[in-house]
Amino acid sequence: MVSRVIPVDDFDLVIFGATGDLARRKILPGLYRRFVAGQMPETAQIIGAARSELDDDGFRAETARAIEEFAGNGGPDSARLEAFLDRLSYVPIDAKGTAGWDDLKARLREGVVRAFYFSVAPSLFGDLAEHLAAYEIAGPDSRVVVEKPFGRDLETARALNATLARHFAESQIYRIDHYLGKETVQNLMAVRFANILFEPLWNAQYVDHVQITVAETVGIGGRGGYYDQSGAMRDMVQNHMMQLLCLIAMEPPYHFDPDAVRDEKLKVMRALEPVGADDIVRGQYQAEGETQSYLEDAGNPESRTESFVAMKVHIANWRWPGTPFYLRTGKRLRARTSEIVVTFRAPPHSIFDDGEAPTPNQLVIRLQPNEGMVMTVMIKEPGPGGMRLVQVPLDMSFADALGPEGTDMPDAYERLIMDVIRGNQTLFMRGDEVEAAWAWTDQIITTWEEGRSAPEPYDAGSSGPEEALRLMHRDNRRWREIRA
Ligand code: BG6
Repeated sequence: MVSRVIPVDDFDLVIFGATGDLARRKILPGLYRRFVAGQMPETAQIIGAARSELDDDGFRAETARAIEEFAGNGGPDSARLEAFLDRLSYVPIDAKGTAGWDDLKARLREGVVRAFYFSVAPSLFGDLAEHLAAYEIAGPDSRVVVEKPFGRDLETARALNATLARHFAESQIYRIDHYLGKETVQNLMAVRFANILFEPLWNAQYVDHVQITVAETVGIGGRGGYYDQSGAMRDMVQNHMMQLLCLIAMEPPYHFDPDAVRDEKLKVMRALEPVGADDIVRGQYQAEGETQSYLEDAGNPESRTESFVAMKVHIANWRWPGTPFYLRTGKRLRARTSEIVVTFRAPPHSIFDDGEAPTPNQLVIRLQPNEGMVMTVMIKEPGPGGMRLVQVPLDMSFADALGPEGTDMPDAYERLIMDVIRGNQTLFMRGDEVEAAWAWTDQIITTWEEGRSAPEPYDAGSSGPEEALRLMHRDNRRWREIRA
């Protein structure tokens, strides 16, 4: 496979919150990898801005440590690392006051792409946007990147959208959902819309049900303060899971164009039926062996926040009547795996009297680990013994099919940051999409909060609460096993 790295235009990127966790783990190592790949121009500038009193060299030294820890690929190449660090500088800045803003303005160049990454608490978005406008640092061509959590309900999301809209047009705002930057998530669109094979079957007549699982082995350690106020519903379902659901269920956009794709996703969100209490299971992990319980991790013995959620969802439109979408996500589960399983209906009639009934075809789209796709088909078991049917996988692991480059794919953040510089919003959430997602999740969360029901316990390292298994069993279906 030939690698086709297309360099982006020259840019100045200002990272607010440059000494924070996300910048250290994802943004700076991601930029370094794009630099090494030859995608980031040698003249591009990255300016860190945060409260800490660092100078340029101090920031470069911190960044070098972050890259050594998080950039992967057996550690950085020292010559390339030096060249990358040369592109970095740092401005101590007061988001609410005047310190640092003139300095920041003086460092920016004219005639290059200008982007501002708000890797800070949403409560600071307004202050940053106002200062960028007041000091005439951001203009009509500048871009602003914002991270989740984008609000904690519809009302707060609307307020954030309104705050940003005071200073930026929608076409300048890049709301990150890093799941949209994952290779296989984009591949979902390629598989659906670049092949004739699947689309004719992609509807309630041929699809029995769809499962979307995002299972994690990590707990909430270190993030208890944030997580305990959010839970799996706000942390994973409202954003990542709903984006996956939309990409699986949406109509073909007329073009692979930001608004065309986002219009179709929005239609799915608006067609989601409310979820009844019987169709949803919340769970909370219990201690197991050395592993602490959720309550210990959260430091809140009274917490009723869910670290797991499973639900059955229906989409009220012409394509999907009667085809349920089962969503499941949780922390401290048996394995780290994210996959989408499309189970087709059984053939309407079996001609093989003696054999077993054919097992329905499944298309398994694996997001992580080992990105790839598997389609199961029925064949005749080889050899004598009559017409015995057996299910076999048609396996397409990207690593096998595409060679080493198939596995060395850019991390979601790398891809998304380069898209910001290119000015391509396809993989970013539009304001109305975020609001529609909150409108739907809000009704579920409100019902829980009114009922004050406790989440179901599950053992750390398991597949989640028993009730989640029953959610499927009662429909004569079963979850695909969670395995790495
Ligand atoms: C984040 C959530 O958005 O996604 C985390 O806040 C979660 O709780 C993470 O662990 C999962 O991302 P990934 O890329 O590791 O699947």
